[in-house]
Amino acid sequence: MPIEVKDLEYTYSQGTPFEKKALAGIDLTVNEGDFVGILGHTGSGKSTFILHLNGLIKLQSGSIDVFGIKLVPDKKNKQDLRRLRGTVGMVFQYPEYQLFEDTVEKDVAFGPKNLGLSEEEVAGRVERAIRLVGLDYEDVRSRAPFELSGGQKRRVAIAGIIAMQPRVLVLDEPTAGLDPYGKEQILSLITKLKKECSPTVIVISHDVDEITRFASRIVVFNDGKVAFDVPMNELFRHGEELQAMGLEIPKAVRIADELRMRGIDLGDVVNADDLVRAVVRKFDKTGMDETDIAKLSAAQFDFDGLYGASASDVRSGNGGGSGEATA
Ligand SMILES: Nc1ncnc2c1ncn2[C@@H]1O[C@H](COP(=O)(O)OP(=O)(O)OP(=O)(O)O)[C@@H](O)[C@H]1O
Ligand SMILES: [Mg+2]
Repeated sequence: MPIEVKDLEYTYSQGTPFEKKALAGIDLTVNEGDFVGILGHTGSGKSTFILHLNGLIKLQSGSIDVFGIKLVPDKKNKQDLRRLRGTVGMVFQYPEYQLFEDTVEKDVAFGPKNLGLSEEEVAGRVERAIRLVGLDYEDVRSRAPFELSGGQKRRVAIAGIIAMQPRVLVLDEPTAGLDPYGKEQILSLITKLKKECSPTVIVISHDVDEITRFASRIVVFNDGKVAFDVPMNELFRHGEELQAMGLEIPKAVRIADELRMRGIDLGDVVNADDLVRAVVRKFDKTGMDETDIAKLSAAQFDFDGLYGASASDVRSGNGGGSGEATA
């Protein structure tokens, strides 16, 4: 059973002069294997919504079912909450601020220990998670988290969640404050984690161009409601709605629209990959193959020279660079 949220409402500071309705009736179903991107203007309720998904906010109204773990208002069940936290891995904004143990290894072990697993099981999971996020286990295990770069710290924080082996991974603005190289690394990591660890992923993002490169489905929040919920490849139909909500239209959609008005129809385009493919399909007379197209598409991430790693390395999660947080 997937995730099913019905008529979820939430009001902060209820019954006080500061009362603020953050969610005004959210209905959302997420299937196993979905890669959901959540977009929405600031204050639209995105974070409040995802905090519900692993019980960090007490349910006021509506219902939540996560793989059979059912939450309803006024139901107190510590065991359900514990199961939920093992099922939904939550990566907060700037998760590195929450590292607190004196070694990387202890920090990553914190979550799985709380699941009540044996010491060997915890140790095995910690090693696997640290390797999975692309860090050198032998090198970082005994180091203090504060000695690491911003991008490395964020990986450690993500490893701590992965070590709980959640079925669903939820990330709130996972690339906030990183430089372009650090962003690219975190996005490749999320794609890898979806394949190898948590098959269902929900990502909140402010950056429509970023999210359309990865998500297979886009959910747009507006004033505490779901404004629309579409497969990624249909997002190009919703440009005006996005604009009306103060959100950006994907760059590739804007370019394709401009070209269409000038008589060049590239068909359905949502992200830069689509745009490159459509242009090649329409204009290439040299017989480009998949490798050529992939190279062209990767050229939008122009890291060569700047960081000493090629764009294709970056996309496959290899390569150098610090991924330092700029914030
Ligand atoms: N702890 C809180 N107390 C009172 N009001 C809050 C609290 N947290 C959020 N709100 C309010 O609830 C609404 C929804 O906030 P939320 O953080 O869920 O939005 P968001 O979509 O995540 O925004 P952002 O893109 O800025 O992160 C906003 O109006 C916000 O001001
Ligand atoms: Mg938020």
